[in-house]
Amino acid sequence: MSETLNLKLKVWRQKNARDEGKLVDYTLEGVSTHASFLEMLDVLNEKLIKQGDEPVAFDHDCREGICGSCGVMINGAAHGAQLGTATCQLHMRHFKDGDTIVVEPFRARAFPVVKDLMVNRTAFDRIIAAGGFISVNTGSAPEANNLPVGRETAEAAFDSAACIGCGACVAACKNASAMLFVGAKVSHLAHLPQGQPERFRRVTAMVAQMDSEKFGSCTNTGACEAACPKEIKLTNIAQLNRELLRASLCR
Ligand code: SF4
Ligand code: FES
Repeated sequence: MSETLNLKLKVWRQKNARDEGKLVDYTLEGVSTHASFLEMLDVLNEKLIKQGDEPVAFDHDCREGICGSCGVMINGAAHGAQLGTATCQLHMRHFKDGDTIVVEPFRARAFPVVKDLMVNRTAFDRIIAAGGFISVNTGSAPEANNLPVGRETAEAAFDSAACIGCGACVAACKNASAMLFVGAKVSHLAHLPQGQPERFRRVTAMVAQMDSEKFGSCTNTGACEAACPKEIKLTNIAQLNRELLRASLCR
C-alpha cells in the first residue's frame, strides 16, 4: 500500500462572521498516510502561504484529543467517520489515494463561524459558568479519604467527565441540541459527594443557560452519541432529565 496520498480537498472558506463563505477546491500531493488530519491541513497551509494565499483558519491546541478545540465536519461527519476519534487523532491512513475530502466548520446557530473552519463555542463556556462547577473554600487540600467514593460511582463519574466540550454532539444533531454535553457535565458532578450541595441549583441554572443559547431540543436519534469522540453515552441525557425533574420537585 502506498504511503502517500494525492487528495482533492473542498474546504470551507469564510473571511468573517458576516461573509457568506463557500467551498474552495484545492489539490494536495504526497500527503503521508502517517500524518494526522490536522497535519494534512498544515501541509495545505504551507502550500497556500508559499503561493502567497491566505492559510485556512482552524482551531487546535493539544492535538491529543484532550482540549476539544479541533472539531470540523469531514465529509459531512463531525470529526469524520472514524468512531471515538477527535479530528486531531484522525489519521490520513483512513483515506484512499485520489479521495475528495470536504471540510466544513461545525454548523449550529449557537456556534457562529468566526473564520473558515473556526467557530465560536463560548456558548458552552457560559453553560459551565452557570453551574458546571463546585464551590469550595480555599485552604489546604482535604485528606483524600475524607470522602470515600465507591469504584462503580467513581467510574461512572469519570466516564461523564471524559467530555472535552468539543461540540460534535451539537454539530451532529439535526436540532443542534447540547443535551449530551450538558448531560455529561451535570452527571459527572451529580455522581460525586462534592457535587451534592449545589446539585439542584446546578442543573436548573445550566439547563436555563442552555435554553437561552439557541440550542435546539433533543431529537432522540442518538446522532450525538455516534459522533462523540469520547463516546459519551445517551444515559447522560437520561440522567440530566432525572436531575431536572428532581430539582423541580424539590423547589
Ligand atoms: S459530549 Fe462528546 S461530542 Fe459532546 S461536547 Fe462532550 S466530548 Fe464533544
Ligand atoms: S486539538 Fe485538542 S482535542 Fe483536538
